[in-house]
Amino acid sequence: MGFNLTVNCDRLSSVADPATPLIDILREEMHLTGAKPVCREGFCGACMVLVDGEPTPSCLLPAALADGRKIRTVEGLAPHGELNRIQAALEASDAVQCGMCFPGMVVSLVHLLTTRPDATRDDIRAALTGNICRCTGYERIVEATLLALATA
Ligand code: FES
Ligand code: FES
Repeated sequence: MGFNLTVNCDRLSSVADPATPLIDILREEMHLTGAKPVCREGFCGACMVLVDGEPTPSCLLPAALADGRKIRTVEGLAPHGELNRIQAALEASDAVQCGMCFPGMVVSLVHLLTTRPDATRDDIRAALTGNICRCTGYERIVEATLLALATA
């Protein structure tokens, strides 16, 4: 059997169990370790990736169901090793502590910046309801996102 994935600009043919969570294929077969397996239950958002442009917890998605869909990981949102707009704003706002939540946060916030350039403070908070941060607190993250929106 097997399945094919398109991740960032790369293709992968896998013969893994089709029910393998996407995050495990990303990390173990493609060596894309940005998405973090933290809760593995769809609650924390640390494993968030874009699937056909929508933020999706990759711990919940069987990899074979991603066949034929366009997957972008946090690595694909900062090509050439440069910080993207939201990453630069998070750094400038001193919004990052341990960083465990940030790959998922960045994925959700890139989606927000792309789809809602007029996003308000409440919109930003709503966009982050699927992303849990246990150490920074959300205020600096919201401020950083407002900064990124203002510098578009
Ligand atoms: S590891 Fe996927 S939502 Fe927490
Ligand atoms: S910066 Fe540590 S969990 Fe968010």
